[in-house]
Order: sequence, then C-alpha cells, then structure tokens
Amino acid sequence: MALPRIFQCLLVVFCTSVSSVVAEYQQIDDSKCDCYLTNGTDGNYFATHKFFDFRSLSQYANVPGIIDDQSQSTDAEATSDYFLSREWTESWGTQQWNNSGNFNNGDAAVFMVNSLNNVYIEKNADSNAGSETFLTLRTARLDNFQSAAEFESIPTGYHFLSLRMYARTIGAPGAITAMFTYRSSDDPMAVQESDLEVRTEDPPEFIQYTNQPSYSRSGNILEAATRNASVPVGWDNWAVHRLDWSPTSTSWYVDGQNVSQISFQTPRDPSQVIFNAWSDGSEWVGNMTEGDAAYFQIQWIEMVYNMTGTDKTTDAYQRVRSRLSNGIASRDDASCTNICSIDATQEIGTAVLIQGTNPSPAGSSSFTTEATSWKGILIGISCSDMIERAKFGL
Ligand SMILES: *[C@@H]1O[C@H](CO)[C@@H](O)[C@H](O)[C@H]1NC(C)=O
Ligand SMILES: *[C@@H]1O[C@H](CO)[C@@H](O)[C@H](O)[C@H]1NC(C)=O
Ligand SMILES: *[C@@H]1O[C@H](CO)[C@@H](O)[C@H](O)[C@H]1NC(C)=O
Ligand SMILES: *[C@@H]1O[C@H](CO)[C@@H](O)[C@H](O)[C@H]1NC(C)=O
Ligand SMILES: *[C@@H]1O[C@H](CO)[C@@H](O)[C@H](O)[C@H]1NC(C)=O
Ligand SMILES: *[C@@H]1O[C@H](CO)[C@@H](O)[C@H](O)[C@H]1NC(C)=O
Repeated sequence: MALPRIFQCLLVVFCTSVSSVVAEYQQIDDSKCDCYLTNGTDGNYFATHKFFDFRSLSQYANVPGIIDDQSQSTDAEATSDYFLSREWTESWGTQQWNNSGNFNNGDAAVFMVNSLNNVYIEKNADSNAGSETFLTLRTARLDNFQSAAEFESIPTGYHFLSLRMYARTIGAPGAITAMFTYRSSDDPMAVQESDLEVRTEDPPEFIQYTNQPSYSRSGNILEAATRNASVPVGWDNWAVHRLDWSPTSTSWYVDGQNVSQISFQTPRDPSQVIFNAWSDGSEWVGNMTEGDAAYFQIQWIEMVYNMTGTDKTTDAYQRVRSRLSNGIASRDDASCTNICSIDATQEIGTAVLIQGTNPSPAGSSSFTTEATSWKGILIGISCSDMIERAKFGL
C-alpha cells in the first residue's frame, strides 16, 4: 500500500521530531553506568562495557610478509607493539596452536598453523576510508600447510553478552572467518558455542549462524542448530555484525537488522569469545588454492556483558535465569539506577544515559532523564521503518 504523498510528509515531520528525542540522550562515562540495556525486542541488561578500537593505530601499522615455513610460522613474534600492550594482552591471547592433535580423527585434510604473524594492524587504503587503520586476521595457503590466525579472550567467564564488530572479509574461497562464543569440552557433543561464520566459498549475501554442535553423534545435521541466512550487507563490505547471547537464545544482526535467532542449544555456561580466520581443507571449509589468502578485517569490537566464575551453571540457576528473561528482560537488579545504552549513542564506543540521574561535573544541579525516553527510541525506529516503507510504496 503506497501512502498518499501528504501522509508521507506528515510521517517524516512527526518522525523527525521523535528522532530529535533520540539525539538528546547524554553521553556518559562508563564509570557512571550501573548497567546497560540493549535494544531490540529481546533487550537484555548487562553489567560491563568494553570497546576495542583499531581505527587510529597508524603508529603500529605493519603488514608482514607471509612466512612459508611451518615452524617459523609457529615461532613468529608479534607484528607490532600493539599486540604486546596491556590494552591487548589483558583482554586477548593471540594463538600459536596447530591442528596436529585432531588431524587424524577429524575431517581436516590440510595441516594448519596459527601464527602471530597473521594478526596485524593495517593502514586502511580504501577510497573514502572510514578509518586510518584496522586489524587484520590473515589466512594463507602455502604448499604444505595453511597459515591461520586466531585470538581468544583472556577472560573465560563471559556469561551472556551482546558482542559487535565493524568488519568485512575479503579474499580467496576456502576459508572461514568467524566471531563466536566458545566453551570447550572433551566430548565434541558437549561443546557450547554460538557462531557467526563466513565461508569465503559462499556468496557474500550468505552467512552461517550456529549454536554448536551442528551434527548429532551419528553424524546427521542438526537442522535446528544452524541457519544459512541471507544478510542485507554482503560480508565483503563493512557492516556491524552483532551476536546477542542471552539465557534463552542467540540472535544475530547485520547493521541493526535481525538476520537469525536460534534458541536450540543456546550455550548455558560461562564462555570465551574468539575471532579467527582459518582453513583445513575439510568439507565445511573447502580447500584454498595454493598461493591464495583471505583477510578478516576489523575496525572495532564492542561488547556489553556479564561475567561470572568459569564454573558450570547449575540447573537451578538456569531455571531462575530463564524465568527472568521471559519476554523483555525484567530489571531484576535493584542496584541499577543509571541505565545506559551503547545503541542510542551518536558516537560509537561511548555510552549514553537512558534512565537515571547524572551528577553534573561542576557540582550544579543534577538532571533526570525521562524514564519514558526508551520508548522514544522504539518509536524512532519504527518511524524510520515506516518512512522506508512509505518511500518504497509498501
Ligand atoms: C539498535 O541500535 C542499532 C544501533 O546500534 C540500530 O542500528 C538498530 O536498528 C537498533 N535495533 C533495534 C531493533 O532497535
Ligand atoms: C546480567 O547481570 C545482572 C545483574 O548484575 C542481571 O540483572 C541481568 O539480568 C544479567 N543479564 C543477563 C542477560 O543474564
Ligand atoms: C604443532 O603442535 C604440536 C603440539 O603442540 C607441536 O609439538 C609441534 O611442534 C607443532 N608443529 C609446528 C610445525 O609448529
Ligand atoms: C547458503 O546458501 C547459499 C545460497 O543458496 C549457497 O550458495 C551456499 O552454499 C549455502 N551455504 C551453506 C553452508 O549451505
Ligand atoms: C529474527 O529473525 C528470525 C529469522 O528470520 C526470526 O525467526 C526471529 O523471530 C526474529 N526475531 C526477532 C526478535 O524478531
Ligand atoms: C582438500 O585437499 C585434500 C588434498 O590435499 C583432499 O584430501 C581433501 O579432500 C580436499 N578437501 C575438499 C573439501 O575438497
């Protein structure tokens, strides 16, 4: 149904006034946020916010040549001091393991070595570059092995999160680039994992989202565990990829659009966060042609999360969590006076106050943000949606 022109105009006027409400949220220092509420139909509350910004690291830019020897790849050193800084080492561990351990019992067909040499800061040479630099994870096929890249979070107690990255993947078919939560187990069927996986063999408009394991013990695909989803921005273009792991489901978004939601096998227990770029010649990944490479490029990573011990969650705790997260998460923590958002901000990486009081710096009177303003955001969003629909005569 195409809206008559006059209604389109009224809608634009009304919606413009609503979105000015959105712009009013005040930027606030994280130290003043008691919790963070994520947007979307299943918004959740989280305790902590972290932002890793790789956009202005020109002093560390260095694209090292590919090392074509297996052992030298394993032994390679960090590509710049950035990866030796506390900012990096306190949060991430760059990996050096290889797949010799699972080579014979898995379906891997190619030896793979993770190398520090494949994790580096690179100058952004795009025309109209949106940043000075970005972080690159490189995976390259040499004549007798696949050189790969991975970094894993140092904390292993992430217990529900909303994880975002501004990233793209470019390069040859036969690789996977991935952002995921991971809790290992000796039993492959007991691994807990929510995945975003780009298969460079696939068309850019498709990304695979999975709550592992995706195969049953007898080797059948668990259809409910995985989605091959079409995405509004191809993985070869810059986009914000978001993975929301909640007690009841994992949801994935591309540039704010919901692209997949899986409740089957939602991870229950504290987990790590991992990013990688790899290939091992297995059916799932394919073989990369010798001499080729693929690149996972990331401008920033942002997350809001809860952290617990690394112990397995008890079933009783899990039942309580599920009750609390029925529908929109209830505010079950009385200590959360200042509710912040990383979604409603005008400046990526910063938080804004959406409910609560912010003591003014100069000791002048504090102000209170309208509790109803969050609704303003929701209206603002459906408005822009309505404008889009009106524009396209839907
Ligand atoms: C949530 O906020 C993001 C910006 O971070 C926006 O792109 C997205 O459309 C919003 N989604 C919903 C469902 O409100
Ligand atoms: C995160 O922890 C807070 C308490 O600190 C709790 O209110 C909230 O529901 C938790 N979020 C999730 C998604 O479990
Ligand atoms: C591969 O890993 C194994 C086990 O950690 C190690 O013994 C071996 O030296 C590694 N191989 C290479 C080429 O780094
Ligand atoms: C996902 O779907 C696309 C389009 O049909 C297809 O080309 C691609 O191979 C599929 N990927 C997987 C892993 O099934
Ligand atoms: C997100 O999209 C998936 C797949 O289209 C759908 O099944 C799910 O209900 C959507 N979730 C929300 C919260 O809209
Ligand atoms: C990749 O190549 C190896 C031989 O080097 C082969 O054994 C394996 O089956 C190939 N994988 C695929 C998915 O074709």
